[in-house]
Amino acid sequence: MIPKTEKQAIAARFARHLSRGQVAYLRAGHLDVLETARRGIGFVDGGTGRSMIDAFTSAGCFNVGRGNPRVLAALREALHTWDMGTPGVDSAPRRALRARLAEIAPGDLDRVLLCAGGGDAVDAALKLARGATGRPEILAATKAYHGHTGFALSVNGKAHYRDYCEPLMPAVRFAPFNDLEEARRQVGPNTAAILVEPVQGEAGIYPAAPGYLEGLRGLCDETGALLVADEIQTGFGRTGRLFACEHAGVVPDLMTVAKSLGGGVYPVAALLWREVEPLASWTAAHPDFHRTTGGSELGCATALAAIDEVLDRRLWENAAARGEELMAALSDLARQNSRIVREVRGLGLMVGIEYIHEFLGPMMSDALARRGVFAAYSGNAPQVMRFMIPLTATQDEVKELAEAIAGAVGDMRKLLPLALPAARVPALRRLLNDEGAQIRLFGALRSMEDLLARVRRRRK
Ligand SMILES: Cc1ncc(COP(=O)(O)O)c(C=O)c1O
Repeated sequence: MIPKTEKQAIAARFARHLSRGQVAYLRAGHLDVLETARRGIGFVDGGTGRSMIDAFTSAGCFNVGRGNPRVLAALREALHTWDMGTPGVDSAPRRALRARLAEIAPGDLDRVLLCAGGGDAVDAALKLARGATGRPEILAATKAYHGHTGFALSVNGKAHYRDYCEPLMPAVRFAPFNDLEEARRQVGPNTAAILVEPVQGEAGIYPAAPGYLEGLRGLCDETGALLVADEIQTGFGRTGRLFACEHAGVVPDLMTVAKSLGGGVYPVAALLWREVEPLASWTAAHPDFHRTTGGSELGCATALAAIDEVLDRRLWENAAARGEELMAALSDLARQNSRIVREVRGLGLMVGIEYIHEFLGPMMSDALARRGVFAAYSGNAPQVMRFMIPLTATQDEVKELAEAIAGAVGDMRKLLPLALPAARVPALRRLLNDEGAQIRLFGALRSMEDLLARVRRRRK
């Protein structure tokens, strides 16, 4: 276990070189873990010596588990021969990864541009859509999350992330997710692309309703717009199919992948597209439409092993089965706690619990962390707690997680006689739902806790 003084020194360095705000945020919610050993569905917190279930998985980076031995071995092996390589020049690992992605992607998505990260791939997708169609407009979904790079940020559904660097890419429109009629109203002859997550992640885990993706596909076919599926969180088995679009039997014109493609070890991303018009002629004329130092050969070798791991173990099937168990347990919990939980929803092992108030999300992160579960609320919807454990989880591990969640909801119930009456007063509710106020409040509670623990230790 890492001694307390060393932990404090680590936090001070983190604050000095990155951000005091991030340190305060993590500390307030008991999320200030120090990931040491990483294996299976979690990691050991060096600060407490405790094993934690990783229910966040960096928003879906660890489909094959933490420190997957096959992926690590592939990276070790690759180090003998490969390095980053030269982007734009071909090499065996890049060739192999492009071919493998084309082989497993839905339908005829078989053109592949390797990228550095998810936002990079989304930027490339939107540039390609605008260039190929010669049209300016992009339709995205309200509360969507597509990353923090330039074009991706422009289609991010949370104004808080965008406001400080406006003006961003113009001609972006938003329509509520799952609202086909509104999408129909917004799409026209100037629409280059409709961009959609097949299951919205950061927005608070919303699976596409039956007919929605099919409807968007039809709308694109009618108007000549391109359908772009962002499978960055949903890809590689997460939702119970290899790609979430497969649930609807829809083949998008472009698809972005990242996160778990790197096997939780080496970030790598890709944009795939179909060799159909206008994409085919335009990309032939603009081979350099997006340049990036992504697609490192080491990342490609890692990604190939991660894909093999997903395919050989048929991890999407485990995601479907374990996801059903988790949903069943959480639905029972929701029925018993209707004063706290509004809804449970998800697909495969992409599961969310929505609370009746925003401030319950951060409270729940805290309650879960105390019970050995590292979980984060949705970036664009703080009232929704996400559970995205690795797809390698066993039945017993899902049971352990469900028990910890039930325990944490029980812990919260004890605090509610104070919080719920306060939340009835609009001004207090606004204060409780304010992230800055939550960090200060939880930070003060944490300081009191640490002080009491010190006093107890001294008395012993
Ligand atoms: C759906 C989706 N798209 C894009 C991104 C951006 O990916 P990255 O953080 O690798 O840039 C994310 C990241 O969380 C995501 O969840």
